[in-house]
Amino acid sequence: MTLKVLEKKHNRKGFYCGIVELDNYIKQYVSQDVKRKLAVCYVLEDEDANVIAYYTLSASRIDLNDIPDHLKRSLKYPEIPVVIIGRLAVHIDYQGNKLGQILLIDALKRIIEVGALIGNHAVIVDPINESAEKFYSKFGFIQLKDSKRMFLPLKTVATLFGIE
Ligand SMILES: CC(C)(COP(=O)(O)OP(=O)(O)OC[C@H]1O[C@@H](n2cnc3c(N)ncnc32)[C@H](O)[C@@H]1OP(=O)(O)O)[C@@H](O)C(=O)NCCC(=O)NCCS
Repeated sequence: MTLKVLEKKHNRKGFYCGIVELDNYIKQYVSQDVKRKLAVCYVLEDEDANVIAYYTLSASRIDLNDIPDHLKRSLKYPEIPVVIIGRLAVHIDYQGNKLGQILLIDALKRIIEVGALIGNHAVIVDPINESAEKFYSKFGFIQLKDSKRMFLPLKTVATLFGIE
């Protein structure tokens, strides 16, 4: 199964994942973010180029003080470089078939590749609700301090993939 960068040919109008914000994002707003280089969007398409799942990646930074104490000891800078999986969603007709997991692993692989070129300490996600929090917890993401955001050190991802 191949995830590709979103192109003009992709049909986004029929996307429905059950969360209005995520549906509207792919239908109406993603192109502006892509055009302004604020995000890159990766999609899974069916044979008619309909989007059946998507996620976005963006570069960002977090405050050192937001990182849980046991993970921040060796970090000496006030701001820490990260990549954010801004949004991730699977069409409702395809949910529960491991596509969410496939998307997440694809995103983590790309983030590892970027991390070999540009310093990047961790992956951040912004879960949209408690259910999404549970999904990300399953893969080892932990909550940042005083925030709904979740965090996974790149070192942990590399270990999971057997790279380090
Ligand atoms: C959350 C979402 C991305 C999961 O995708 P999916 O394809 O349905 O999930 P998968 O089949 O890949 O599930 C992988 C694993 O996560 C678990 N899981 C999936 N959704 C879960 C949830 N909401 N809560 C807890 N666990 C969940 C599955 O049980 C599965 O575990 P298993 O391997 O032990 O069986 C999808 O349901 C979705 O798009 N939901 C609406 C949008 C959303 O909440 N996005 C989250 C990011 S903001």
